[in-house]
Amino acid sequence: MRELKILAVVVFFTLIMYIGVEPFAHSQMHPHVEPADYTFSDVDGLKDLKGDAKNGATLVQANCTACHSIISQNFPPVMDNASSAAAYGVVPPDLSTAGKLYNENYLAAFIKDPAKAGKVEHKYEDGAVHPMPKYDWMKASEIADMVAYLKSIAPETMTNKEVFADSCLRCHGIKYADMQKGTMNSITPSENLETYMGKIPPDLSQYIRSRSKSYLHEFINDPQKHLEGTAMPRVGLTKDAQEQVVAYMEEIGDSKKEQRNELGPKFLIYLLVFAIMAFLWKASKWRDVH
Ligand code: HEC
Ligand code: HEC
Repeated sequence: MRELKILAVVVFFTLIMYIGVEPFAHSQMHPHVEPADYTFSDVDGLKDLKGDAKNGATLVQANCTACHSIISQNFPPVMDNASSAAAYGVVPPDLSTAGKLYNENYLAAFIKDPAKAGKVEHKYEDGAVHPMPKYDWMKASEIADMVAYLKSIAPETMTNKEVFADSCLRCHGIKYADMQKGTMNSITPSENLETYMGKIPPDLSQYIRSRSKSYLHEFINDPQKHLEGTAMPRVGLTKDAQEQVVAYMEEIGDSKKEQRNELGPKFLIYLLVFAIMAFLWKASKWRDVH
């Protein structure tokens, strides 16, 4: 009888902790944030303008290729990565795939005002300027032409690795992906990144384990929601591209997940069989004692 009372007390306090205290602590430490908004409804986007890709080609060539390579269209980088990181703080991404990676409204807003679209205006309050100039002096139709051009040259499909490399690798390494050759180090050297960002962006190999998937989706879509004042710009990926990025982080950081999931039920059956055997064994021993 005494044991039962003790058990009841333990169960009672455990339930209070589990139902009352834990969710409360969780809600305090991880305040609820709105889910990722893949429509980027807050940006000054295309406003349904349909651009002319041909005119866009001329405009992009004239305005963007001094900093950005577009390898697929035979615009090689003007400088090597080290010089370009020294000049801009971060190596500007190749634009061959931008039309596939980024939401078109976000892309238009980013071209008009990179710091605003990326939600990093707080970094440029003391007169410093974003390394990519604003193109808000151009006509809305011209911005739409450039977006149409970038979309017209973008590949139909990309691997998860390519999506990750084109949207994150200029700032973040993911070293577990390729330990020997070190080709998945960040494209920009860390010294430059430290100056540009105020800190070295973390290696992303294990973030799929230390953060939940929903956290990663919300964070990439709008880092300010979880880390207010952070230097990481919003990366305006489409839902598909973002799912590929997170899938890649899972491939690299948690490659044994499927095997683990398969093992789970087998292990539970094993425990159950042994629990029954242990119980029978105990019963047989105690029968003689009593
Ligand atoms: C003076 C150099 C410079 C010029 C000119 C320039 N950019 Fe950039 N661009 C950058 C840099 C640097 C970055 C990376 C900024 C960062 O990651 O913080 C960037 C980033 C981008 C991105 C990535 C956006 C994202 O959310 O990650 C796109 C797309 C882009 N530029 C398009 C363009 C287009 C289109 C043009 C021409 C209209 C252009 N850029 C002109 C320097 C430039
Ligand atoms: C222009 C540089 C830049 C780009 C591009 C960038 N990041 Fe970041 N990222 C940062 C910086 C800087 C931090 C550190 C933020 C801090 O601690 O305030 C960071 C932090 C993070 C974190 C850690 C968040 C946490 O909770 O501590 C994750 C996860 C992340 N980035 C994922 C990504 C992914 C995925 C991409 C590509 C879709 C990406 N980042 C693109 C600069 C960048």
